[in-house]
Parts: sequence; structure tokens; C-alpha cells
Amino acid sequence: MTDPRPVGVLDSGMGGLSVLREVHALLPAEHLHYVADSGFVPYGERSEDEIRERVGAITRFLLGANIKALVVACNTATAAAVPWLREQLAFPVIGMEPAVKPAAAVSSNGTVGVLATSGTLSSSRFAALLDRYGQGLHVITQPCPGLVDAVERGDLHSTGTRELLNSYLEPLLHQGADTVILGCTHYPFLRPVLRELLPPSIRVIDTGPAVARQLQRRLQEDGLLNMSGQAARICYWTSGDPDAMRRFVSANLDAPLQGEVLCWNAGQAQGALP
Ligand code: DGL
Repeated sequence: MTDPRPVGVLDSGMGGLSVLREVHALLPAEHLHYVADSGFVPYGERSEDEIRERVGAITRFLLGANIKALVVACNTATAAAVPWLREQLAFPVIGMEPAVKPAAAVSSNGTVGVLATSGTLSSSRFAALLDRYGQGLHVITQPCPGLVDAVERGDLHSTGTRELLNSYLEPLLHQGADTVILGCTHYPFLRPVLRELLPPSIRVIDTGPAVARQLQRRLQEDGLLNMSGQAARICYWTSGDPDAMRRFVSANLDAPLQGEVLCWNAGQAQGALP
């Protein structure tokens, strides 16, 4: 059995592209429709109600493209909207959360730093995650205002971005963290600078590869994999500036992931979720 319908992937902006590339690496035959809500980024400073409204509109739009599964490639939107989405959608909805459990397994000294948005760190979902997997760990949480905006601008290597990132890493290093969790999907694009700023012994963990594996498992279980063996079609939509997204995609994603970038706005998706 083969299911050629696309998988939807959404984020507040460019961050979810760090997840999309992991999905494509693991599932190269799956057609992908990516929506960046760059006109409303950052989600990390918005209320849960606002985020649900945006995510609901994007999901309605993706339902129009006949998606068979949805990846919420955003920690902040997962915390605000994934349980609500799952109540309404009959297909797999894959969310993501900071990798506290894997970090607990690899940390040698039990001191772990989490870089994430204020929205993620203040969510009840994150509190529950710490209750579940953070017992016996010293978890240092660090909100990172401004980092998402830097990534959105494609400003990944400037002195300003480096200094901002360094100011967020310092408290983690000062308190002896041996593992740093990237709890926002924008941050993997800063990994090269992060690696320069951190001692080599410090581990950096992001959730993108695990999310791709979870999607693979769910598609397999539900008989939804695309077995056609043909090359995947990747389409991008943004509520922000399509030229900025074109530049970002061409600078940061490999050739097979280059695709058309189109404009999207919430008015294109009226009505309730099914
Ligand atoms: N990329 C997002 C995340 O994983 C959200 C960033 C934002 O819009 O604040 O949390």
C-alpha cells in the first residue's frame, strides 16, 4: 500500500525547516508542504490563544492540500496547540518538546541547560516534562529573546548574533552544564556558532531527528507511507516576505529541498477544523 498525499509541516517561521530537513533525510519520498508564519513570528512572546488561532488557520489551509499527517515543527506551538489539534484531527499530529529525557540519559554530571522561548519555558507542558524526566537533574532554563529574530533575518554568523548567543550560554556554563538542549527549532541553524562558543566536551541536543523518526513510525503504523520511490515535491508558503524565505531556503537547505515559495495568509483558510 502506498499513500502519495503530502505531509504538512508548520512553524512560526524558518525554524521548522531544521525539522523538515531531518524529515526529508529519513523519508525522501514524502511530499512536504511547509508553512512559515513569518508574518506573526515570534510565537514565543504570544498568548496560547493567539498561537492556537494561528496554528488552526495554518492547519485548515494544509487540510485543503489534503495532508495525511501534520508535524508541528515548533516547541512553542506544540505546548500551546498540539493537544487541542489532536482532539480534532483523525491523522497523526507529531509535536515536539525540549529533549530533557535524552539529555538526562547522556549528561555525566546531571546539569543540563535548556535554551528555548519564554512561551515554551513557561508552559504547563514543559513543567510536566520536567516533573517526568527532570527528577534528580539540575535543569537551567534560559529564555533567548532576539535569537529567533536573528535566524528569521538569516543573520546566523554576525558579531551581534554571536554576542547574543554567548550571553545566553554564559549562565549555563557558569553553573556547570555539560549538556545543552536546543528547545526551539530555530536554534539548530545557529549550531556552527554555538559549537565555536562552547567547549568541545559539551553536548548539544536537538529534537529534529527524533521527530522525523516519530513521524516515520506513525506513518508506518497507519499504513500512510509513500512507497512510490519517486522524488518528493517540497512546497513552501509564508505569511511573511517570500523573497526572504527564498533567500533562507537557498542559503541553508540542500539542493533536493529547494522548492517553490508562495505567499499565504490566514484569510485563505476560513471555518472550523473538521
Ligand atoms: N521555532 C519555534 C520553537 O520551536 C518558535 C519560535 C518563536 O516563534 O518564538 O519554539
